[in-house]
Amino acid sequence: MTTEVQDESAEVADQPEQEKSFFARGALIGLVGGALAAILLISVGGSVISLFDDVFGSGEEAAAPAEELTGDALLISTGSNLATTNGCIGCHSVNGLDGTGPTWTGLAARVDEEYLRRGILEPNAEIAEGFTEGVMPVTYADTLSAEDVDALVAYIQSL
Ligand code: HEC
Repeated sequence: MTTEVQDESAEVADQPEQEKSFFARGALIGLVGGALAAILLISVGGSVISLFDDVFGSGEEAAAPAEELTGDALLISTGSNLATTNGCIGCHSVNGLDGTGPTWTGLAARVDEEYLRRGILEPNAEIAEGFTEGVMPVTYADTLSAEDVDALVAYIQSL
């Protein structure tokens, strides 16, 4: 009987220890759970914010898209495209070497804008030195708009 009582008291004495470790485990689980929940919240919050940015734009990117050209850069790039689509570059190089027609490299440094316009619209008005009359098509005055000519001139001036 005495032994039993002793055992029981030993059990009772043990209990707080067990409870302590039970609570400690509970607290640990709570902490880990809390941390995981926080990480989940942050990452969900982050994707919600980036989704918001995607939908409504975050400023910089929307303000200046890389491919959107304006002003002179737009005019020059339009001129470069027109030189390709109208076949100019088949006769005029931009690498400094003369072909069927004189190279455009450095041309604008030697002549003025009026000369360039005339060279496009009335190719036979003045013949570039070393080249022959009647080779460059005379049809561009009919097929190119005033804006096209502006763009082509800006492109040649940029070379
Ligand atoms: C079939 C060949 C050919 C094509 C295509 C051609 N050209 Fe020419 N171009 C010439 C030749 C040859 C000359 C030189 C003779 C002359 O001045 O007319 C010339 C001269 C010029 C000149 C004066 C160059 C200088 O050094 O004095 C300009 C500017 C010019 N071309 C612009 C253009 C533009 C812009 C286009 C396209 C819209 C074009 N050319 C298409 C052959 C061509």
